[in-house]
Amino acid sequence: MSQKDKINIQQLPKHIAIIMDGNGRWAKEKGEDRLFGHLHGVESVRNIVEGAAELGIQYLTLYAFSTENWDRPAYEVTGLMELLVETIRKEVPTLNKNNIRLHVIGDINMLPESARKELDEAIQETSKNSGLNLIMALSYSSRWEINTAIKNIAEDVKANKLQPEAINQQVIQQYLCTAEFPDPELMIRTSGEYRISNFLLYQLAYAELHFTNTLWPDFRKENLYEAILDYQSRERRFGKTSEQVKS
Ligand code: IPE
Ligand code: IPE
Ligand code: MG
Repeated sequence: MSQKDKINIQQLPKHIAIIMDGNGRWAKEKGEDRLFGHLHGVESVRNIVEGAAELGIQYLTLYAFSTENWDRPAYEVTGLMELLVETIRKEVPTLNKNNIRLHVIGDINMLPESARKELDEAIQETSKNSGLNLIMALSYSSRWEINTAIKNIAEDVKANKLQPEAINQQVIQQYLCTAEFPDPELMIRTSGEYRISNFLLYQLAYAELHFTNTLWPDFRKENLYEAILDYQSRERRFGKTSEQVKS
């Protein structure tokens, strides 16, 4: 029996965020180059996007490249960018077939022109889709995002468009890259690392965290179902007592 049958469809997380980690170690285990791991990581992306869409998940955010990842060896960065362009180009028809809308969050200006162009087109071509929202975090980091938000808030205050007294949590949320999306209820990290690595620090305030030793290129729908079941076994208290939550 698949773990899928045990999932309570009435209590799915609306938004799942994933730190896709372990491509390099996966390749190394096989005596291959790191890029071989990234190439296979794309297979997992396909499988998980399909799995999330089938379940009826509304938002899926995938951490694909952090602002810190720019400091990796040049050949790896270039290889990843090429893989990105190629993958987007190939995947747009499938996204449209499955009613999936693509979004990107991150410091997009850092990306090579070819990648930006490919992304813009894919975002445009999938903009009418109303099923799963697939949010790719590219050249993203939470501290970069918060820094940008603070700058924009300060500018709007200076221009008299925003009064300091009016700044509250809803307003702050509107200045983040994720303004259009609800906060993730579930965050998954693969590869046995127990850290957040500058991912959605503000948005994950009350997310349930699921860590698995599975390396990203081995992660498949069954692993996603397991993570969702783990999420559904948690009691989400939001600061209240267990008794309060139950009544
Ligand atoms: C995740 O895998 C993909 C990216 C960060 C781009 P890694 O490349 O970090 O793989 P490990 O962690 O070195 O195994
Ligand atoms: C986090 O993975 C970023 C992505 C998955 C894109 P890293 O492999 O870069 O994180 P650290 O360096 O182990 O914290
Ligand atoms: Mg890593």
